[in-house]
Amino acid sequence: MNKQHIPVLCDEVLDFLKPQPDGVYVDGTVGLGGHSYAILKASAPNGHVIGIDLDPDALAIAKENLNAFKDRCCLINGNFAEIPVLLKEHSIYAVDGLLLDLGVSSLQLDTPHRGFSFNHTGPLDMRMDTGHPLDTDQEIALTAMQVVNDCSMDTLVDIFKRYGEERFARRIAARILKARQQTPITTTTHFAEIVKSAVPQKTSKIHPATRVFQALRIHVNRELENLEVGLDAAISLLKPGGRLCVIAFHSLEDRIVKRRFQMCARACICPPKIPVCICEHEPSLQILTKRPIVPDTSAVQHNPRARSAKLRVARKL
Ligand SMILES: C[S@@+](CC[C@H](N)C(=O)[O-])C[C@H]1O[C@@H](n2cnc3c(N)ncnc32)[C@H](O)[C@@H]1O
Repeated sequence: MNKQHIPVLCDEVLDFLKPQPDGVYVDGTVGLGGHSYAILKASAPNGHVIGIDLDPDALAIAKENLNAFKDRCCLINGNFAEIPVLLKEHSIYAVDGLLLDLGVSSLQLDTPHRGFSFNHTGPLDMRMDTGHPLDTDQEIALTAMQVVNDCSMDTLVDIFKRYGEERFARRIAARILKARQQTPITTTTHFAEIVKSAVPQKTSKIHPATRVFQALRIHVNRELENLEVGLDAAISLLKPGGRLCVIAFHSLEDRIVKRRFQMCARACICPPKIPVCICEHEPSLQILTKRPIVPDTSAVQHNPRARSAKLRVARKL
């Protein structure tokens, strides 16, 4: 296993997933294979992992990292929102456990030409799914560069507010429109400078472009839409007793997970004003984490990117 890669909340995920020697598990965000490695090790000798990722570069590294388990591991380039279809192609219709470790990987952040980080100069790309050709009409093929240079002022404001909760969204969008009249905005660092110049100095401890980069990344990769669909898909695939573990890294993701779990765990989803239940809703999940599990101080020291991680787990009824 690549030594530089430390999977977030890995022991906690194993504690909840309880991999069995004949179980079938889906890692919907296999990344470099850190969690999958641990699940495969814990489910020896016959446990299987299906690892899915949008990013072909990540899958190539995961393949190397998981080589020792190649007979029990199948890697698929795809979107976890389409898990049922992807698994059907392998004649799998139900699984014992499922993990989603959301967001961007360290590989993506640390590779300048992927354009995810304002700490490295690179093309303003931010696509996780680089397998999609750019000259198609598919929305997912849009790069951050296209969004920043082509979208209207109102669209940019909406993206920055909705996905970045950025309070200076309008000022930033106005500065972008002005800058792109002079010359196209093509690199991460040029874009970060434009954002920085638009916000008042020293209003926050984090880099002034942090929220806008997050917003663009979420928009380009349709991360929240995929999560909404992916959660339902994951729940539908679990065998009774099977567990779904989701690690979120910001409040927008965590809120979606929390609400979906709560909705699926309720016996009644009638509007509060209705005196007698008419919904006939049956709970499909039991929530196993009343509060989200977060990494302890030493885990954050070893892996600073884990600091905002929140793990929620539910069991299929
Ligand atoms: C935080 S990393 C996962 C790291 C992984 N758990 C490990 O231990 O190496 C998140 C990964 O999810 C992938 N990803 C994000 N959204 C996805 C989606 N909708 N479908 C499939 N993969 C996705 C990203 O490309 C990235 O590789």
